[in-house]
Amino acid sequence: MSKYELGALTEPLLSWYEKNKRSMPWREDPTPYHVWISEIMLQQTRIEAVMGYYARFLDRLPDIASLAGVSDDELMKLWEGLGYYNRARNLKKAASQVMERHGGELPADYEKLKELAGVGNYTAGAIASIAYGVPAPAVDGNVLRVVMRFLNCADDISKMSVRREVERSIQAVVPAERPGDFNQALMELGEVVCIPGGAPLCEKCPLKKLCQGRAAGAQMKLPVKPKPRERRIEKRTVLLLEQAGEVCVRKRPDTGLLAGMWEFPSLAGHCGKAQIRKFLEEQGAEAESVERLPDAKHVFSHVEWRMRGYRILLSGDRPQDVVSGALFVKWDQLQREYALPVAFHAFLQV
Ligand code: ADE
Repeated sequence: MSKYELGALTEPLLSWYEKNKRSMPWREDPTPYHVWISEIMLQQTRIEAVMGYYARFLDRLPDIASLAGVSDDELMKLWEGLGYYNRARNLKKAASQVMERHGGELPADYEKLKELAGVGNYTAGAIASIAYGVPAPAVDGNVLRVVMRFLNCADDISKMSVRREVERSIQAVVPAERPGDFNQALMELGEVVCIPGGAPLCEKCPLKKLCQGRAAGAQMKLPVKPKPRERRIEKRTVLLLEQAGEVCVRKRPDTGLLAGMWEFPSLAGHCGKAQIRKFLEEQGAEAESVERLPDAKHVFSHVEWRMRGYRILLSGDRPQDVVSGALFVKWDQLQREYALPVAFHAFLQV
């Protein structure tokens, strides 16, 4: 027996989906590859934001073989702005695994899918059910919210045990003939009706008569999850070092935040102009001008960067330590060819 009884929602949910499902590019031609790419992009990213990236990605990498063979730099450029760049790195790694282990075809098997890089229960379930018609659960945050409200259940959805139990409960009711529709209907209900962060649109809900959370007036308090950890605040001073129409960029380390992406060099803390000049001098560099740029901030999941920027026109030698391992590139070349995280885009306005 599964803990959460969900049998009652199947029929009204599927009829609602039939009439209300939104058109999305990956629904037009739901090949396993298309479903996979879309589901990875949709993690932590809004549907509208994904659309353009999805089209461009598939245009350039139309199949698994092309994804397995793409260069890291081009891959990062295709992903630039979507964030959570490990998703892209894992896509490429998994594409190679599919070439080696499965002859270039994503397996139609929930467990085998989960052995691929970056493919967890949710993604495996989405690919298996939507592309292959396998009755497997695909439980994301939307589904957890719908289920907890539907059952008026105050279990903590951040617990893996609760997620697993919801998966078992979905597994028990997912209709064998329409698993992909069922999973997508649950997600979509969570996205457009049973919405997070405020009052859900219960009047529009196909489950309103059956919903125990609504009956108890508890829908706003559910689902229960602990407060996220506070973000660490990191102050940085970002240097746009320019010379002869070129700007200095360097590659971030292979591990950690924004691994392998390009960046403008930066110093820890917030520095004033005098500190910058002193720093340049110590590095044997000469600046014609040091101009303060508007401050910028960028919020990551666990850190927040508060950035102070300077545009520095170098007149003579370049600061040795900063530029070792760095490149000077033309501005238009930077925008065309280098994957620069969105965190730095504020400084491109100059
Ligand atoms: N969110 C993520 N994947 C989705 C899908 N396939 N349908 C609706 N919403 C989604």
